[in-house]
Amino acid sequence: MNELERQLRDLVGQSSLTELAEPFPEPVSIRLLLKRDDLLHPLVSGNKWRKLKYNLLDARRQEYTTLLTFGGAYSNHLYAVAAAGQTFGFQTIGVVRGNELATAPRNPTLARCEQMGMTLHFISRDDYRRKDDPAYGAALLDQFGPAYILPEGGTNELAIQGTAEIIPELIAQLGAPDYVCCPVGTGGTVAGLVQAVKTGTLDTQVLGFSAVGAATAIPGLPDFDRHWQLLTTYTFGGYARTSPELMAFIRAVEQRTGILFEQVYTGKMLYGIYVLARQGFFPSGSTVVAVHTGGLQGRSPLLDE
Ligand SMILES: Cc1ncc(COP(=O)(O)O)c(C=O)c1O
Repeated sequence: MNELERQLRDLVGQSSLTELAEPFPEPVSIRLLLKRDDLLHPLVSGNKWRKLKYNLLDARRQEYTTLLTFGGAYSNHLYAVAAAGQTFGFQTIGVVRGNELATAPRNPTLARCEQMGMTLHFISRDDYRRKDDPAYGAALLDQFGPAYILPEGGTNELAIQGTAEIIPELIAQLGAPDYVCCPVGTGGTVAGLVQAVKTGTLDTQVLGFSAVGAATAIPGLPDFDRHWQLLTTYTFGGYARTSPELMAFIRAVEQRTGILFEQVYTGKMLYGIYVLARQGFFPSGSTVVAVHTGGLQGRSPLLDE
């Protein structure tokens, strides 16, 4: 085991499981547990940690000293990469969507990225659309020097290998649950869960709750099969959109459980689970695990009002 592997293992173990004692104020006959990936690491929390783990090892193995990645102004992924770079000794470059932001006061996410040592490079929305084009990547490397490129949201093969590890961890903690739920952005988290459920030939069904909108192409997965479903009903109008009802729901759950969520990903997933549970979607007695994917750096202060 090399030094980085040792550091990764020592800093970040498995995540715990929390059973929500009274998740629903009214009777609903399911067990709801949270897989506390939000607690995996104080800064590189949640699914970001899972997605970065094998990428960091690969970057180190290939002797890269710099990570370069992409994100919007509020990106949990940029934040996680900045934190991982600081923790594990990589330089980091964040290519940010929106060149108008270059001269604007930094929002809290970007300010923290810079404090953690990330160099921010702002590009136009047109250029940002080219972020996955190898020629554009090569031009960035010409400008910044050699760097290990991580895609937006951190989703790639190695990320999926990392998120797949949630399932064997869960089985060791609980046995195979009936359902495992997670929020969906770029789809790397849900893809790992589905891959692991298939590999283990489990009867567990994976439910992905889209946080971004109707059409989400999930890497390496057919649209639907008996192992999983993508639910697009609980997006609240699209990425980062909210409603007073969603915010009130999150506040109420936080007060009942003492656990914090946020309004972009985990709050929408939980809202969806609650609606489905009340509609009788889950057979009586089902064990439902919701992966708390963290992202709390993006939690709205309005949730404290
Ligand atoms: C907190 C949080 N949860 C869930 C997701 C969705 O993960 P994925 O992009 O792998 O679908 C993201 C980011 O994309 C996130 O930041």
